Amino acid sequence: MLPQTTLTTDLKTSNDRFLRACRRQPVDITPVWLMRQAGRYMAEYRALRQKYTILEIIKTPELAVEVTMQPLQAFNLDAAIIFADILPLLEGLGLQLEFVKGEGPVIHNPIRAPAEIEALRRPDPRESLSFTLQAVALARRELAGRVPLIGFSGAPFTLASYAIEGGSSRHYILTKTLMYEHPQAWRVLMEKLAWTVGEYLYAQAEAGAQALQLFDSWAGSLAPADYAEFVLPYTQQAIRRARESGAPVIHFATDTAGMLPLIKEAGSDVIGLDWRIELQQARQILGDAVALQGNLDPVALFAPLPTLQKRAAAVLDQAKGHPGFIFNLGHGILPQTPVENVAGLVDFVHAYKTTTST
Ligand code: CP3
Repeated sequence: MLPQTTLTTDLKTSNDRFLRACRRQPVDITPVWLMRQAGRYMAEYRALRQKYTILEIIKTPELAVEVTMQPLQAFNLDAAIIFADILPLLEGLGLQLEFVKGEGPVIHNPIRAPAEIEALRRPDPRESLSFTLQAVALARRELAGRVPLIGFSGAPFTLASYAIEGGSSRHYILTKTLMYEHPQAWRVLMEKLAWTVGEYLYAQAEAGAQALQLFDSWAGSLAPADYAEFVLPYTQQAIRRARESGAPVIHFATDTAGMLPLIKEAGSDVIGLDWRIELQQARQILGDAVALQGNLDPVALFAPLPTLQKRAAAVLDQAKGHPGFIFNLGHGILPQTPVENVAGLVDFVHAYKTTTST
C-alpha cells in the first residue's frame, strides 16, 4: 500500500483530461485508460491472488485499493477504475455467487421461474455493497488527486442474464425464454435491477467516484427490437439516476454496432465502442453531442509494437476533429497480454500528435 494521504490534498484532480474529454471539453493530449486495467496480465496481481480469492480482494477495501493502484504505478494512465466486479451486486438480491477456478462465475441458485423473481430482495447497495463504497472513498484518498477515479456497475440486462443462466452463456436461451414467456415477471426483475444499479452508481459517486461506467457485456446478444422493448427503458432508468450525481456516465454495451441509435437513446454522456465498428462510422451515427470511448481490439496488444502502434494511430486519426474522445480498448484487456505492449500503447497514445481538442 502507498502511505496514507489526507483528503485535503484531494480537492482538485491535477490530471483531469479524462474528465474533460467525458464532458467534450478541449484536452492537451488524448486521455487513455484500459478496461480491466487491473488483473491477471500483471504479475503484481497474480502474486496477490496467490494469497486471496477474487471475492476476498473485492470485499477487503484495502486490498481492492491496492489492486486499483497497481496499473497506475506501472503505466501512465489517465484514470483509475475501482477494483470490483459486476456480480457481487446480485448477492444482495439473494443470489449465491462463486468464482470457480477455470470456470468463471457461477450462481448456485439461478432464477428460473416468475415466483423466484417476486422473492428477490431489493437491496440497498449502501449496505449490500458497502465494501466497494469504502474502497472508492479509500482509493480517492490514495490517488491524492493524481488522476480521476471511475466507479462502475453491470447493466440490468447483463446482470439479469447472469442471474437467470447461472453463469456465462453462449445463446442466452433461458434468459430470452423468460423474457418472451413471462414479460411481466421480466419487467419486475429488470425494474429491481435498474433501481439497484442506479442507486449503486449514485452511491459510488457520493463515495468519491468522479465518473461512472455501465458495462452491458451481453447486450449484443439481443435483436435491436428486443433491446428496445425489454432492456432500453431499464438502462435509461439506471443512467438517469446515476447522472443525478453530477458524474459523467459512460455506457459500454458490447457488440451493439447494429443498434447504436438505441444506445444513444439510453442517455449517457460517453458511449464506449468495441472494435466491430470504425470510430468514424460510429461518429456519423451518433453525432457530436456525445463523447466516445474505445475502440482498439484488445488482441492488437499481442501484435509486434509497430503493428500495435499502427492500429492505435488509426483509432486516433478517426477521432480527430471531434470533441470528446477517450482512448481505450474495445473490451477488457486479456490475461495473457504482454505487459511491455501495454506500456508501449499508453505512451504511444500520449505522444501521438493528434489531440481531439479542436
Ligand atoms: O477494470 C478493472 O480493472 C476493474 C475490474 C473489473 C473486474 N471485473 C475484475 C475481475 C471489471 C470492470 C469487471 C467487470 C466485469 N465482470 C464484466 C464486464 C466487463 C466485461 O469484460 O465484459 C463482466 C462480464 C464480469 C463478470 C466476470 N468476473 C467474469 C466473466 C469473470 C471471469 C473472467 C475470467 O476470465 O476468469 C470475472 C472475474 C474477474 N473480475 C477477474 C477480474 C480481474 C478475473 C478473476 C481472477 O482474478 O481470477
